[in-house]
Amino acid sequence: MSLTTPFRLTATALAVGVMSMSVHAADLTRDNGAAVGDNQNSQTAGANGPVLLQDVHLLQKLQRFDRERIPERVVHARGTGAHGEFTASADLSDLTVASLFTPGKTTPVFVRFSSVVHGNHSPETLRDPRGFATKFYTADGNWDLVGNNFPTFFIRDAIKFPDMVHAFKPDPDKNYGTDKTLFDFFSHVPEATRTLTQLFSNYGTPATYRHMDGSSVHAYKFVNAQGEYNYVKFNWKSQQGVKNHDPKEAERVQGKDFNHMSRDLITAINAGDYPKWDLYVQIIKPEDLDKFEYNPLDATKIWPDVPEKKVGTMVLNKNPANIFQETEQVAMAPANTIPGIEPSEDRLLQGRMFSYADTQMYRLGANHQLLPINQPKVAVNSNNQDGAHNTGARTGEVNYEPSRMQPKPQPAVARYSQLPLEGSTQQQKIYKEQNFKQAGELYRSFSRKEKADLIATLGGALAGAEDEAKHHMLSFFYKADADYGKGLTKVAKGDLSRVQALAAKLQD
Ligand code: HEM
Repeated sequence: MSLTTPFRLTATALAVGVMSMSVHAADLTRDNGAAVGDNQNSQTAGANGPVLLQDVHLLQKLQRFDRERIPERVVHARGTGAHGEFTASADLSDLTVASLFTPGKTTPVFVRFSSVVHGNHSPETLRDPRGFATKFYTADGNWDLVGNNFPTFFIRDAIKFPDMVHAFKPDPDKNYGTDKTLFDFFSHVPEATRTLTQLFSNYGTPATYRHMDGSSVHAYKFVNAQGEYNYVKFNWKSQQGVKNHDPKEAERVQGKDFNHMSRDLITAINAGDYPKWDLYVQIIKPEDLDKFEYNPLDATKIWPDVPEKKVGTMVLNKNPANIFQETEQVAMAPANTIPGIEPSEDRLLQGRMFSYADTQMYRLGANHQLLPINQPKVAVNSNNQDGAHNTGARTGEVNYEPSRMQPKPQPAVARYSQLPLEGSTQQQKIYKEQNFKQAGELYRSFSRKEKADLIATLGGALAGAEDEAKHHMLSFFYKADADYGKGLTKVAKGDLSRVQALAAKLQD
């Protein structure tokens, strides 16, 4: 070790303004910055004596190893991330005060793609929706657009989410999932018909993350400087095009490389082949909300009859330097909104506004927004304080508001929009469920081969359901499209007249 060689400035040293001058940049140190003399041999009492408790380097090394795991995400545990930027191409100032939508303006982003059901390190070849979550580090604070590759979701009310995830995940008595429990649950959930159709189609096994579109699924609200709001859906379209694996190819890849989606993204970015997505918005005026035959605030629906407008392009151009610190510690939350973007009344989204920030307080701790990957690029000036692992740099005596000593201006454009309300509290289904129409349209949009793959895959899975659940499920798909239902009934060895009788009782 030399006293004259350059020293290393760590993030902590920077924060507290302290530099260590005694350690060479390449020297191995303990967590307190002190140099390690020997990393290969523990300190022992003589040649044959026991290891000594005073070997603080050994103790720390084992202690830190023992604590390497944090709780993994309860869903979407397997993911891969990348840095990039979003450049706006349209002026949306009539719709939203969110300043990122200014033509030419560039906003740094971090994207995390993921699968849903299985744990970290599970095969990326497994059939699943894929997460497509983007953190925009905007000049107005961080905005997280936490979406999926499918434009619809299985359910429309957050109260069903834990049950649905339990049904998808391995059974508690076996530690592997079964079609029996999966379809036992979904035979009570007709609103899942479109999303299940997409899941068991070849869209359930995307070829790469680069060849995948994305969607907010939910409607959000754009709010302008006058406090007026409009409903908005966001859709990402891959400039690489969309590519899925058919069942044969999915099986082939599974046997060859089950990290194929992470590997593809990391390899492409390292090679300078940066993937790009265009962002589109669809807008519905509040006064038009009731004019549709479906409820536009129902997360099981797309808006097929609302035009799309391109508002910008995102490029991913840098891989994380450390997967744990960036991809794993990133905390994407629908609650991270900015002035001009608010949640709609979508019942599923409303539950998500709570659930993500809540799980992140458990998974990463109360101060997770202080982690470098989650830190806004703008100054944070809240009165939230203390808590475990606080690495903030708060100073001063005023930690409350209002104060005459340190007044905090509160811009009018940042106030929440106002929603007129009437009626009483209730626990009722939404109006206009329309559970099957868009499922039939999706089925009919598939090519002959895609239809055949879907019927073979889904029919095969339904064959593993209990008799009663199987026939209810088949009736949902029959109601969506008679040919689709007949095809599935044949493969699943169901009774067509029973399926037809059940379908006749279903509402459109
Ligand atoms: C009420 C319904 C839902 C609930 C309660 C819920 C809950 C959760 C939770 C607890 C996590 C783990 C977050 C973390 O540990 O950081 C998560 C992750 C995620 N969810 Fe949901 N979810 C719901 C619906 C949805 C929907 C509709 C979408 C797509 C639009 C979605 C997309 C995602 C994505 C992409 C992630 C991974 C985020 C990341 O990469 O860090 N979820 N969800």
